[in-house]
Amino acid sequence: MIVTTKTLFEHAYGKYALGAYNINNAEQALGLFKGNIAAQSPFIIQISKGARAYTDKRMLEAIIRACDEIFPEAVFAVHLDHGDEQTCYDCIDSGFYSSVMIDASHDPFEENIAITRRVADRAHAKGVSVEAELGMLGGVEEHVAVDEKNAKLTDPDEAKEFVEKSGCDSLACAIGTSHGAYKFSGGQGLHFDRIRAIQQQLPGFPLVMHGSSSVPQDEVHRINAAGGKLKEGAKGVDEHQYLPAAKLGVCKVNIDTDGRLVWTRVHREFFRDHPEDFDLRSPGKVFIAEYAKFIESRSNLLGSAGQLASAREHAQSKGGKA
Ligand code: G3H
Ligand code: 13P
Ligand code: ZN
Repeated sequence: MIVTTKTLFEHAYGKYALGAYNINNAEQALGLFKGNIAAQSPFIIQISKGARAYTDKRMLEAIIRACDEIFPEAVFAVHLDHGDEQTCYDCIDSGFYSSVMIDASHDPFEENIAITRRVADRAHAKGVSVEAELGMLGGVEEHVAVDEKNAKLTDPDEAKEFVEKSGCDSLACAIGTSHGAYKFSGGQGLHFDRIRAIQQQLPGFPLVMHGSSSVPQDEVHRINAAGGKLKEGAKGVDEHQYLPAAKLGVCKVNIDTDGRLVWTRVHREFFRDHPEDFDLRSPGKVFIAEYAKFIESRSNLLGSAGQLASAREHAQSKGGKA
């Protein structure tokens, strides 16, 4: 059942976080649904601009609609990840998306407010909610490279003003994370003092954490042992910090890189161990099972495991579909 992102956030706020996972193909979608059902967890599927171009936005929509039929038990929202203004309008007008992210965080504050306001007005007229971003994550985003040194944490006072003026429904905050497989090299981690200060300015308002992959070191070792050349030692977010962050209002935890690591490990090991095989379904089946296992483990860490029935009831009481 596709539900609004808003109802999922209402259900989760202060108690647990929803995993928001990027998909690009059918295998990822199958693993995602299977894992969340195994954990009895509601979730968010997110689609980036790159994914809409790679698989074709119509194909991704068809895959998600098919999964909705194949797994009638599932409760999830569909979200545009890191959209520009035009892509947001395309998704809002499609009638398929529960929410869109307008990412104008690289623009000056007032410009970010103005763009987000335009998107929010158009989205709200169609019952779609809007995630905006304030502050700058380190690492590389889809269309903007930000030097790690210039990564700018979200200012709590600015966050309050931004939300009031822009009309956004949730806010992606820079709280120490970055996208990709190389986030922290030493003892750094989430800035809980900053999350707390933002929550104080915006009580009850859903916060979003981008760059949340944990980059399991075991995956990195296995990939490299099977011929990969990933940098060893660089860490991701400590997965045991998801739940403490959720208690401070972080309702959506974005995870993409970790799924790519599962894909890479499975395929590298498979073809190393089965050099005679050329059936794409053989490693595909392993990937679906392994990705489902990974998703189930995340649901437990996010606290979303076991929330499915209650989230469904809540969504139904609010009128259901996006
Ligand atoms: O934050 C970006 C997501 O990981 C999506 O990545 O733009 O390569 O699809 P992508
Ligand atoms: P990771 O690169 O940590 O998986 O972050 C994904 C993300 O923020 C998608 O918007
Ligand atoms: Zn992101």
